[in-house]
Amino acid sequence: MAIDTATGLEAPAELSSERVKSVFSSIARKYERFNAISSFGAYKAWVAGMMRQADIDPSHDVLDIAGGTGEITFAVARSKHPRHIQCTDLVPEMLEVARAHMAEGASCGVPVDFQVVDAQDIPYADESYDVVTMAYGIRNMPKREQALSEMLRVLRPGGQLVCLEFSTPPNGAWRALYRFYLKRLIPFWGGLVTGDREGFVYLAKSIKAFPDQQGLAKLMEQAGFTDVKWKNYTGGIAAIHTARKPA
Ligand SMILES: C[S@@+](CC[C@H](N)C(=O)[O-])C[C@H]1O[C@@H](n2cnc3c(N)ncnc32)[C@H](O)[C@@H]1O
Repeated sequence: MAIDTATGLEAPAELSSERVKSVFSSIARKYERFNAISSFGAYKAWVAGMMRQADIDPSHDVLDIAGGTGEITFAVARSKHPRHIQCTDLVPEMLEVARAHMAEGASCGVPVDFQVVDAQDIPYADESYDVVTMAYGIRNMPKREQALSEMLRVLRPGGQLVCLEFSTPPNGAWRALYRFYLKRLIPFWGGLVTGDREGFVYLAKSIKAFPDQQGLAKLMEQAGFTDVKWKNYTGGIAAIHTARKPA
């Protein structure tokens, strides 16, 4: 089934895919600033959480899905030194920025390749990666079940999925404050700083329409992952889910 990622309602996949291409191709050069604002400045701590939870060692091949400008790819390279990282994204303009960071030495010598890939149709062989990382990717995908099945397919038995995504604060008061901030302040503030109000309006809508922690865990289990766990960050504004392909 395909959905409109801004509402969660059933819709042709092209609607969301075209919108996401338009949003990210236009903000690619401003994305890192956009990211710092949209994650309320907490992104670095959330990435550090991802690195703590990722079971990556120097013999591993890592696939970064929706890798964007390479934030997660380069954090993995710096902190884990895997054998190889494949950094992929739907939008070529985002990967161009990642390539420029690579040219400046961001991977600390770890081999990284870049490729435009739709995570809903991954062009790699079965069982070819030890770990799949994905930050802020699945929320933007209209065919989430298919994307998760593809990630499961390319993982080796026992391989790990590590997924950072915006989520739902369990505390009602915190959730209400956060939703007010998302709906009213983020488009205004983000628009002012980056000149791209529409990108922030989409961000706010897609977060509201996205499944909560349990809902995302269920999608992972339905795709065939086991040992699905999550840890909340910043009171549940973000969550990191980890899951395994059965050994
Ligand atoms: C918010 S950015 C996150 C980038 C990066 N992971 C980070 O943490 O900075 C979301 C990325 O998801 C990518 N994306 C959206 N739909 C995708 C799809 N179907 N397949 C692959 N990437 C996708 C977008 O192009 C965009 O670069």
